[in-house]
Amino acid sequence: MAQIDFGGVVEEVITAEEFTLDEARALLEQETVAVLGYGVQGPGQALNMRDNGVRVIVGQREGGASWERAVADGFVPGETLFSVEEAARRGTIIQYLLSDAGQAAMWPKVKECLSPGDALYFSHGFSVVFNEQTGVVPPENVDVILVAPKGSGTTVRRNFLDGSGINSSFAVFQDHTGRARERTLAAGIAIGSGYLFPTTFEKEVHSDLTGERGVLMGCLAGVMEAQYNLLRKHGHSPSEAFNETVEELTQSLIRLVAENGMDWMFANCSTTAQRGALDWAPRFRDAVAPVFDQLYQAVISGQETRRVMEACSTPDYREKLETELNTLGSSEMWRAGAAVRALRPENRRNRP
Ligand SMILES: NC(=O)c1ccc[n+]([C@@H]2O[C@H](COP(=O)([O-])OP(=O)(O)OC[C@H]3O[C@@H](n4cnc5c(N)ncnc54)[C@H](OP(=O)(O)O)[C@@H]3O)[C@@H](O)[C@H]2O)c1
Repeated sequence: MAQIDFGGVVEEVITAEEFTLDEARALLEQETVAVLGYGVQGPGQALNMRDNGVRVIVGQREGGASWERAVADGFVPGETLFSVEEAARRGTIIQYLLSDAGQAAMWPKVKECLSPGDALYFSHGFSVVFNEQTGVVPPENVDVILVAPKGSGTTVRRNFLDGSGINSSFAVFQDHTGRARERTLAAGIAIGSGYLFPTTFEKEVHSDLTGERGVLMGCLAGVMEAQYNLLRKHGHSPSEAFNETVEELTQSLIRLVAENGMDWMFANCSTTAQRGALDWAPRFRDAVAPVFDQLYQAVISGQETRRVMEACSTPDYREKLETELNTLGSSEMWRAGAAVRALRPENRRNRP
């Protein structure tokens, strides 16, 4: 454990220096990790562990694109690729990486496939914390652990390949074997986490649901649209509105913020931008604070998870979602975005 000062608050974190990959490999030597679900997180975690020398099998329902993808990634039907239930039976660490609605739907079957001493691993606290909605109540004779990468499964893999890693939180909900913590950390290091920080299942799901609905996606999409619409309403061209709203953010500023922080960004822009942005930041903060309060309440009360469970369980959900996403994609703003992206030099060079 390294003690790190996060702005005056000391927290413990674990990196591959405190818990080495060799230690992780040694601890996982006796384990078979069954990755159930080959959607977004499944491939990232499974491939990273496999490349790290861990015995990995995949459990995926047959007949769809995810099964085909697992085959394309080198998992062999009947050897390292099985039905969800069969993989759950064969694994000793069972990574439950179906969609959260899928976890609830499959739980009655998966539960039957667990053996005493297995570790049931989640990458989200959703199923366990909101178990009155999901029905996921793990038996007492298994470890229940969590490693939640703070990024998309696509980045879990991409960052592993470029050597950078994704930070993950970790938690133990139930320690049946007395080895739950070391199994958690071993898995966390083996999937390629940059560093691991402790949380609880409850804190993880509450912060994660808030983050993705808030700054990471929901709020970001909302404020982008508001500014784009404002500029368009006042006669700015789509190219200008998109560049001032999205392109400059993603291609320039946010990369600098990632490297150096917002304080550096304020200190290293024009004085005109600096003065205005410093003056307006508190106004935006105060304007959205009440919406964030509503969001957090909706999360902790279970309203948000209920909405996900209900919406995602309807038979025509994927069709409806596609319509919703097509509407967004065909909006002027995101069509303008596609045109702007196509004009990036690297994309122009690749044009046939
Ligand atoms: N997305 C991320 O990057 C991310 C980040 C951090 C944590 N997490 C957590 O990681 C877990 C997995 O998330 P994900 O985004 O990877 O999920 P996802 O892409 O939505 O995964 C879908 C997977 O679940 C399977 N599935 C869905 N419903 C099913 C059902 N009823 N029966 C059997 N299989 C079913 C899908 O199979 P088909 O393809 O055949 O439908 C596919 O393999 C979740 O707990 C999520 O909260 C995700």
